[in-house]
Amino acid sequence: MSKPFDVALGRLTGEDSYSSAPSLFIDGGQERGTFFLETFGCQMNDHDSEKVAGVLLSRGYRQVQTPEAARLILYNTCSIREKAAQKVFSRLGEYRAKQSEGKIIGVLGCVAQQEGEGIFERAPWVSLVCGSASYRKLPELIAQLESGNHRVTGLDTDTDETFETEITRRDNPFRAYLTIIEGCDKACSYCVVPYTRGPERSRASDAILREVRQLAELGYSEVQLLGQTVNSYADPSPRKMRFAELLLAVAEVPGIRRVRFTTSHPSDFTPDIVAAIETHPKVCEHVHLPVQSGSTKVLRAMQRSYTREEYLETIAVIRGAKRPIAITTDIIVGFPGETEADFEETLSLLDEVKYDSLFSFKYSPRPHTPSMKMNDAIPEEERSRRLAILQNKQREIQTARNRKLIGQTFEVLVSGKSRRENQWSGYTSSYRLANFTSHVEQLLGTYVQVRVTGVTPNSLVGEHVV
Ligand code: 5AD
Ligand code: SF4
Repeated sequence: MSKPFDVALGRLTGEDSYSSAPSLFIDGGQERGTFFLETFGCQMNDHDSEKVAGVLLSRGYRQVQTPEAARLILYNTCSIREKAAQKVFSRLGEYRAKQSEGKIIGVLGCVAQQEGEGIFERAPWVSLVCGSASYRKLPELIAQLESGNHRVTGLDTDTDETFETEITRRDNPFRAYLTIIEGCDKACSYCVVPYTRGPERSRASDAILREVRQLAELGYSEVQLLGQTVNSYADPSPRKMRFAELLLAVAEVPGIRRVRFTTSHPSDFTPDIVAAIETHPKVCEHVHLPVQSGSTKVLRAMQRSYTREEYLETIAVIRGAKRPIAITTDIIVGFPGETEADFEETLSLLDEVKYDSLFSFKYSPRPHTPSMKMNDAIPEEERSRRLAILQNKQREIQTARNRKLIGQTFEVLVSGKSRRENQWSGYTSSYRLANFTSHVEQLLGTYVQVRVTGVTPNSLVGEHVV
């Protein structure tokens, strides 16, 4: 998934505290207290990295932009598909020689959790392996390495903690990500997440709202609530706020202009969420609702806990809203046992729903998942063929849908400036990327009206209406 922003000013939230600063003496050419952090994968990982950086910054570490300048090289990794995991090992390979320069190399995130101590065997130059449920312990683990331990791990998933930090360095200066629920209690048969991120843990609603107020005071106007199954949110506090109520409460915080949320699970998608979007203009008109397959038979094998018909009933509720709501999805093609007829059902679902956008993937067998052992694997070539057919179909649907928007005007939060003069970009409330012209000097971070003059399958083209 590409990063939506081409500007990354970065800023610190809260006060920096240097009370337990590591010594910043020069050691082998690099400052001892410097770290380089690279992130692979989803928005949850991006946000985890912001939190990890926040913790290290608060301990006096300094973030640097190249592995060469760092004493501590950290990779926050993704293992959702095999390709993503392979990329991590090839990147680690590139830095094999760095260990001899006295650098500490650490693997964080899902590959760390999935491979565990096996990483030390595959890449013996790594000395730190830590999964997301143990990030709270990171400073302690790093201190152990500094005091002479050669290898340390943080791999427990057996936790009811959420990784909350007071000080978070946020990479996106306009949109603040905020995790409201960690882990996942669903058991989709293809997915490593329950294994790598552990069981579901929700944060208390009052803590979430306190953080939103702080974010608003720092100047953020858009907040994106995150969770693998964000709408399965279950407030652990006596207040017992429902997810839809939380959306409304966040939207009511002074200074907040947009509230987004992702990813929603179809089985927990209740009509009060649609009502919240309908009634509150600050709740963004976009729902990401992964379907994975249009065939009930395949959905059952995937353990998705809904049928095609039930999913379509939810879509009907969303499409019936008084405000138009954009719907996007994720689809996996070539799941074991997926017949041509099953695949045709996925194609017909695209025709029925007419998604505004979708992410599509070839099925990739993952360790520790039930589908790993399933028979009737679909050959790689056939998976590729199905993926291409699906993507072509969606391109046509998207182009046709976007064309209908020509002539309409949308509010855009400006988040990017092109190298080309007078060219800007940003997102609509419905999460459509808009590239537009404006002769106004400084627009970054502001909300502007953009009239659509043209479209591509993946974006709107327009002009600033002053
Ligand atoms: N193979 C292919 N795609 C997968 N996803 C999750 N696990 C796999 C897998 N094993 C996709 C799903 C999910 C998205 C984040 O990644 O579509 O919604
Ligand atoms: Fe994975 Fe399913 Fe949980 Fe999503 S809901 S994170 S696909 S197990």
